[in-house]
Amino acid sequence: MPIEFDPKQQVFHLYTDGMSYVIGLIKDIYLAHYYWGARILTVHAASKWRFGQRPNTPTPEYPDLTLHLDTLPQEYPTHGRGDYRPPALGLTVLEDGVSALKLAYRGHCIERGKRPLSGLPAAFVTDEAQATTLTVELGDEAVGLSVELSYALFERFNLVARSAKIVNAGTRRLAVETAMSASVDLPHDAYDILHLWGAPLRERMVERQPLAPGTFRFGSTRGASSHYHNPFFALLRRDATEDTGDVYGFSLVYSGNFLAQTHVDHDLSVRAMIGIHPFQFRWILEPGETFQTPEALLAYSGEGLGGLSRMLHRFIRQHVMRHPFGVTERPILLNSWEAMYFSISEDRLLALAERAAEAGMELFVIDDGWFGERNDDTRALGDWTVNREKFPSGFAALAEAFRSKGLKLGLWIEPEMISPESALYREHPDWVLRTPYREPVRSRHQWVLDLSREEVVAHLMGVIDALLASAPIAYVKWDFNRYLTDVWSRALSAERQQEVAHRYMLGLYRLLAHVTERHPHVLIEGCAGGGGRFDLGMLQFMPQMWTSDNSDAASRIFIQYGTSICYPAIAMGAHVSSVPNHQIGRVTPLGFRAHVAMSGNLGYELDLTALNASERAAIREQVRLYQEIRPIVQFGDFYRLVDPFVTRDRASWMFVDEARREAVVFYFQILAEPNSPVRRLKLKGLDPQALYEAPELGFVMSGAEWMHAGFALPTLASDHQSLLIRLKQVP
Ligand code: DGJ
Repeated sequence: MPIEFDPKQQVFHLYTDGMSYVIGLIKDIYLAHYYWGARILTVHAASKWRFGQRPNTPTPEYPDLTLHLDTLPQEYPTHGRGDYRPPALGLTVLEDGVSALKLAYRGHCIERGKRPLSGLPAAFVTDEAQATTLTVELGDEAVGLSVELSYALFERFNLVARSAKIVNAGTRRLAVETAMSASVDLPHDAYDILHLWGAPLRERMVERQPLAPGTFRFGSTRGASSHYHNPFFALLRRDATEDTGDVYGFSLVYSGNFLAQTHVDHDLSVRAMIGIHPFQFRWILEPGETFQTPEALLAYSGEGLGGLSRMLHRFIRQHVMRHPFGVTERPILLNSWEAMYFSISEDRLLALAERAAEAGMELFVIDDGWFGERNDDTRALGDWTVNREKFPSGFAALAEAFRSKGLKLGLWIEPEMISPESALYREHPDWVLRTPYREPVRSRHQWVLDLSREEVVAHLMGVIDALLASAPIAYVKWDFNRYLTDVWSRALSAERQQEVAHRYMLGLYRLLAHVTERHPHVLIEGCAGGGGRFDLGMLQFMPQMWTSDNSDAASRIFIQYGTSICYPAIAMGAHVSSVPNHQIGRVTPLGFRAHVAMSGNLGYELDLTALNASERAAIREQVRLYQEIRPIVQFGDFYRLVDPFVTRDRASWMFVDEARREAVVFYFQILAEPNSPVRRLKLKGLDPQALYEAPELGFVMSGAEWMHAGFALPTLASDHQSLLIRLKQVP
């Protein structure tokens, strides 16, 4: 994956087989953006930009009247010298209040491999040959500021991982107010933006809308990436579709407050950026100190949105999820929550485990309610010792009992939280995130621990180490059921209080790094009230996420479809739950629920002891089937076939294994239609030359026929019906 510097044109060409990303220097000073898109073989920098005089526009290189920052496409723009668009970097010299910056090129280096980011999750390589990194140093001599922009290019991926390191190289104190992870100025064209928004129980709804002049921004200021907006967006050329056209993806590797922003200016160019949200953010840099931004992944696809998704899915499995979880199959689990809520006990769980084992499940997860005085959600968060009244034998013995049935043991925790009614609060009332003025706001009756403080993080490391040493625990479900309020830390001075939200994230990442290094084989599933922190920062440590607290299969079709835009199926925890559904009361057939859940990481979350023999037999068969198709679902390529956000009443998607020998197709009829038209389903991603047999349908066709001519779907007579069709190449 070469990165080449042409000293004559002062141009950096970052390219893979399918992509070029071209930046360069203007007047030896400004780092400009020339091109990003399909691979080009030659670069002629001067043809990419037109200089000329413009009315009423500042000219920072006077007497040259032709250079204007307000229209120059730049890589890390600042404010104050004639660029009136949103800046990537904003800071103030505290001594005198100066904030107008001039970042000028100082040097660069190109090296093999990719370095980790200090204190933050980031895409990684397992072998130096997998990436090449360009670092461009910019600086403002007068301010005493240095900025290192990092661009890592990965083998076989049309993607650049970008981040910025801000260094106070001078003698005066600086306050960083805006520090985006990446910013790109794309030339004038008609673009749409696609982003994922929603709310708890309705996460990652797909929204595509045209970009128009002005600023469009969304983000989170909740202290977590959130259920409401996801730290991802795509710019699509207006004619791009699911399968064709240019699409640019921006994904932030961060789990806290974020801002995603596009700005279409008077010249119709588009500035797109993503990074930590500047609202209530201000980071003081003493002389010699450094601020590292999170990383952003900038991905390009010339094969539509589907091509972008598939590339991101592969990339996340190989370079984001901690090794080896991106390449190892995930266990089929039974979770106790919707089966029993807080009414858990050793006896009840053993009876449930018996049924789970009979069905062939592989992991038993004890959800909330196993610790301290936790009999409801008003108390005991922080008291992470097993409740011996509920579990007289303790977890070591219970794990052994599960093991003898072929089940591993998993446990729920919510370590970032504290209940006002807890031993931990009685001992450390000062560990709560709160201001000195008043009692902090409660949410789900609980408060948040101040993870910006070293001693709090150290305490949690000890608690989790002890828990994981107490029994063979193979899996942890890491919950986070409320957002931050009263963000203030007694450990920091007044002028540093706007660092707390980011310091909280750094504390959390330190904790997660410790836990995952000490206990590398424990699979952690992130939760955050179901899908509230579904982001790449979390996926680094927690390679699967409880996708939503909404386990209704019909709702899940939308949620999982939206999530698939930028996250792989292996990341999506998806459970079969009971009916009427506990969140919205809908009744759907067991087979339909299973097909939706099999499209992600299959689990069950219902009381198996309350089911009849035929339901139990059906579940046994589902588990067996999923075990067969699991490698294709978890490691295959994903193709979206029918978009429920368009049809509202049906959806379809499919998985194809890497060698294109096998595929699994899912079709969902959400609402039935009387006397419906004959619908043909056309598949994708197959080898056009090969013959594929579909035993469920009873016919054999070439890949080309499956894809171009398709097949007539059988009539599905009622609501919530589904098909699972397997395709196998005929030798
Ligand atoms: C919220 C989660 O999303 C649920 O799955 C469950 O774990 C509860 N918390 C437990 O309190």
